[in-house]
Amino acid sequence: RRDLLMLGIETSCDDTAAAVVRGDGEILSQVVSSQADLLARYGGVAPKMAEEAHALVIDQVVQKALDDAKLSGSDLSAVAVTVGPGLSLCLRVGVHKARQVAKSFGLPIVGVHHMEAHALVSRLVNKDLDFPFLALLISGGHNLLVLAHSLGQYVQLGTTIDDAIGEAYDKTARWLGLDMRKGGGPALEELALDGDPDAVKFRVPMRQHKDCNFSYAGLKTQVRLAIESKNFTDDIPISSASEEDRQSRANIAASFQRVAVLHLEERCQRAVEWALKIEPSIKYFVVSGGVASNKYVRTRLNQVAENNRLQLVSPPPSLCTDNGVMIAWTGIEHFIAGRFEDPPAADEPDDTQ
Ligand code: KG4
Ligand code: ZN
Repeated sequence: RRDLLMLGIETSCDDTAAAVVRGDGEILSQVVSSQADLLARYGGVAPKMAEEAHALVIDQVVQKALDDAKLSGSDLSAVAVTVGPGLSLCLRVGVHKARQVAKSFGLPIVGVHHMEAHALVSRLVNKDLDFPFLALLISGGHNLLVLAHSLGQYVQLGTTIDDAIGEAYDKTARWLGLDMRKGGGPALEELALDGDPDAVKFRVPMRQHKDCNFSYAGLKTQVRLAIESKNFTDDIPISSASEEDRQSRANIAASFQRVAVLHLEERCQRAVEWALKIEPSIKYFVVSGGVASNKYVRTRLNQVAENNRLQLVSPPPSLCTDNGVMIAWTGIEHFIAGRFEDPPAADEPDDTQ
């Protein structure tokens, strides 16, 4: 496995990322170019703009991943690339680049599912983590509870019926006038440290539904109403707010975070019970995706794991948020299992997607 060298490319949303990972899990390079500045300026991901931003940096990002690993394309065993889910205009930039590299060096291609990669990177982090395991995947676009039976065999226990938790963090952060350049989630996590989590009484979503699904749209509305009743708006950035105003924003941040995460805890507790009925041998609870880099989220979900005698596995923050390593690693898992595409034909035109 040490001879296997996989390039991973990720462009599904707002980060352009590439990495080289060795078959035994050694990370040889990891490059991420973020569009956070663009997003902060324009207030969200506009697909066309995101596509152009990816296209502008993709060649450099991939080249840097190879250079940092001290490799050239001809040393690689294969190329893995995110094929979905995500913004199709953005995905195409990555797929096009992967095909171009694969064609130049005659390499097989592994198409990777972005959410599977968020889950499987936990197996790179913890080599003892065998199937079956339970995974909670929490990001800007997805909120999934999955029972992973084996490679490629996943049973969805729950999903969101409206928004994902990351979306709720991002909107709340924007409405509280936080600096979005470091990302809404991290900015809100920081502000919440100074707030009282019991200051505002938000309702915990979906308690009457005894299943493992999620909902964050109602909590978002409750937050919006709380903010409107305080009479401050995102027109006034928090850096210009009075001390009293700042404290009241921190209280909303902390109260939001407590309920947003309590909702995760409740659904995860039920999912553990369901999962153990189906697969009593489960030992691990994986928590991954951008929101899993949040310390409060990790602490609370670790408690859920401990209460059920499971071991929590949560990748380090750099592997929780979108990255090329998780794509390369998932590529390795599938490549070893014989799931890959032959190299593109040498006469394939360059604009083939
Ligand atoms: O997995 P990811 O990087 O991209 C998607 O696949 O969506 O997740 C991005 C999401 C964003 O909503 C971001 O605000 C959130 O993860 N996030 C956080 C934190 N770091 C990133 N949310 C809460 N606390 C954090 N520390
Ligand atoms: Zn993601």
